[in-house]
Amino acid sequence: MSNKRVDLLVGAQWGDEGKGKVVDILGSNVDVFVRYQGGANAGHTVVVDGQKVVFHLLPSGMLYPGKLCVLGNGLVIDPEQFLSEISGLLENGQDRARLAVSPHAHVVMPYHKMLDKLQEEARGKGRKIGTTGRGIGPCYVDKYSRSGLRVQDLLNADILRDRLIYILEEKNQLFTKLYNQKPLAFDEIYEPARKWGEALKPYVDDTRKLLREAVDKGQHILLEGAQAALLDIDHGTYPYVTSSSTSASGAYTGTGLSPHDLTRVISVVKAYTTRVGEGPFPTEDFGEDGEKLRHNGGEFGATTGRPRRCGWLDFVALKYATELNGADTIALTKLDVLTGMGDIKICVAYELDGNKFETWPTDTGILNDVKPVYETLPGWNEDITNCKNFDELPINAQNYVKYIEQKLNVPVGLIGVGADRNQTINRGI
Ligand code: GDP
Ligand code: IMO
Ligand code: MG
Repeated sequence: MSNKRVDLLVGAQWGDEGKGKVVDILGSNVDVFVRYQGGANAGHTVVVDGQKVVFHLLPSGMLYPGKLCVLGNGLVIDPEQFLSEISGLLENGQDRARLAVSPHAHVVMPYHKMLDKLQEEARGKGRKIGTTGRGIGPCYVDKYSRSGLRVQDLLNADILRDRLIYILEEKNQLFTKLYNQKPLAFDEIYEPARKWGEALKPYVDDTRKLLREAVDKGQHILLEGAQAALLDIDHGTYPYVTSSSTSASGAYTGTGLSPHDLTRVISVVKAYTTRVGEGPFPTEDFGEDGEKLRHNGGEFGATTGRPRRCGWLDFVALKYATELNGADTIALTKLDVLTGMGDIKICVAYELDGNKFETWPTDTGILNDVKPVYETLPGWNEDITNCKNFDELPINAQNYVKYIEQKLNVPVGLIGVGADRNQTINRGI
């Protein structure tokens, strides 16, 4: 019998649940950290002794020297961002983990970022997705249409040249004929791409094999999801989603691990709800409560700086996300932000045209029109940011946690009471 320890950590809402912090907390017991989908659209914040580091592409375990951090095949990698994140860590004098990059990960090229912006502009008012502008959608489009460049293509100048000639011919048709832009010159793209290949080369490794060996040796692996279930390309609020499989199943395609390998799913749930970008959000609060949550929670995008839309916890959405992810345990973050909010509202159903329902609709377009049905729980005013144990929390905060456990039928194994690594209540996660 093997003693596998492969944890998958995924977001349960629309992103920014505090995944980075939870990865960092669990990190001291982890041997290998893995990112497996998405790209630099992610913004994962880690705060250690008051010092804040935001990871976009690199796994949030990078601050653990001697550990291995893997960028799996399912990722779309912007080489400039990758190299600047590494040099940022070096500049700070931070000792860091070892990195391995899959040769099969796709490369976000400058034309992907340009297309991302042009497509958003072309969508016009009312149709914009509110992307991060990081080229994610166009890069995944190229991956699936089989005209992408993979990391390994950057390592071979001849292959890169050959593929890029063909790719640019097609892209330039788009730029000139559809978007009325100047064509891209081959050398402007080829020369930097070749240099990126040289810079990436020392990190490129057979990550599937490395992970296989790590699993078989019984090493502790933590797969770090980016974005979250409701932004999933298949299961999210399409088209207001990101372009990857953000719920649990993406971890297999994005690494080459098998479904048998996974031993636990950790679902990260923020104590209220936020969303950045466009798309339906039934419990969004446009009044004082929403403003207070944004202010107290510092809800501004870690990647784009945009103010996040804020509202109360939504159990219709959360139950759906919990089913999708198959959560074994919940990491509940930002409980401290609810301090002083007065009564706490909880959405238990939606109402539309006089009909109440509690299950996530297949047509998510109707989420723009539903009215949330709220229950209310009493809040608390005591500062909880120094609480280290569950029973130190005010009774109403304890009851809120218990309510979540009951509603989702999943234990809350960890509670965040502040942004810092040590502002955490560990209930045996
Ligand atoms: P991620 O994308 O899921 O990793 O989350 P982000 O880093 O984008 O956003 C979460 C924000 O909340 C960051 O600024 C974190 O430092 C902060 N944060 C995480 N956990 C807690 C917590 O328990 N309490 C408070 N007050 N802030 C937290
Ligand atoms: P983390 O990992 C929150 C949102 C964007 C937009 C939509 C599509 O930090 O939780 P994209 O650039 O991916 O094509 O944008 O998805 N989005 C996120 N929202 N957190 C994220 O990542 C996000 N990554 C993308 O705002 O609505
Ligand atoms: Mg984030």
